[in-house]
Amino acid sequence: MFSDVMVNSTPSDIAVDIRSVTKKFGERTIFGDVSLQVRQGEVVALIGPSGAGKSTLIRCVNCLTPFESGSIMVLGHELHGTNEAKRGPSREMLKSIRTETGMVFQSFNLFPHMSVVDNVALAPVLVLGTSREEAREQARELLCSIGLSHRVDAYPRHLSGGEQQRVAICRALAMKPSLMLFDEPTSALDPELVGEVLGAIRALVDRGMTMMLVTHEMMFARDVADTVAVMADGALVEIGPARQVLDDPQTDRCKSFLSRVLQQKAPSANTSAPSMGAQIAADAPTQEHEQARDTDRKRKHAEEVER
Ligand SMILES: Nc1ncnc2c1ncn2[C@@H]1O[C@H](COP(=O)(O)OP(=O)(O)OP(=O)(O)O)[C@@H](O)[C@H]1O
Ligand SMILES: [Mg+2]
Repeated sequence: MFSDVMVNSTPSDIAVDIRSVTKKFGERTIFGDVSLQVRQGEVVALIGPSGAGKSTLIRCVNCLTPFESGSIMVLGHELHGTNEAKRGPSREMLKSIRTETGMVFQSFNLFPHMSVVDNVALAPVLVLGTSREEAREQARELLCSIGLSHRVDAYPRHLSGGEQQRVAICRALAMKPSLMLFDEPTSALDPELVGEVLGAIRALVDRGMTMMLVTHEMMFARDVADTVAVMADGALVEIGPARQVLDDPQTDRCKSFLSRVLQQKAPSANTSAPSMGAQIAADAPTQEHEQARDTDRKRKHAEEVER
């Protein structure tokens, strides 16, 4: 899969360097003094309770939302907090960051009036100036490599959620990004469709793609991520090698988050506490959690569509 995906690299070994970033919405601080580095070729999974600010953090990385203080270096481009910078990023810098960074959201946001191949070919034509013919050819190759050769001429409404999300991944890859940002790419999918999307992401990991991955799929994070960062209560409460953080968390906040995830997975008949690692399967959200996420999902979907 993805044999022809080019993994670009920038001169620095650090792809993303988030330094002491504080983000507010109005008067409310969402997170403060957050620092995190992503090396070239590294996969960093961002986990944590709903509303912790995971999506907001990766949206700061590709300039979908501004932040108040601190700085973010992304693929060699330096972004500064609005309290500190005299002016925001230039149009050229925004274009570079968005071109070099692929983002996949939980809602697929394909253009409904365009065929699958045209959805994937659109950005290279508009942004990179690739000829339509060449862009469509490249789109076909990408779609074939992800097992969608039979769907290239279909329209999004005729695709399953898993297929639509794989098209969305191809659309991001069509720009030959150096960095992929995934925001809960499987959370809008029926459980039986999750595997095919995770398989596509895993293939990218195997190709050495640098990634920030917001996910509630703990087993997957444990499996593919080099580093896990846990966000809670307005901070990154724990950062470390994936298995270490998930199997043997050090902070009380991380322990309580993971044990809640495990409890949700463990049947009530299970009297002993489940061991970390072996029993982390997936984060089954509570009904309350689901409702909160549903509201957020609708708001974010509206924002994404607007954009
Ligand atoms: N555009 C916005 N305006 C105001 N508040 C916002 C906006 N976007 C996010 N928030 C708030 O910021 C907080 C963090 O939101 P965010 O979506 O980043 O959380 P999350 O960790 O991704 O949660 P989930 O796991 O549910 O996706 C939430 O309380 C959310 O309601
Ligand atoms: Mg989110």
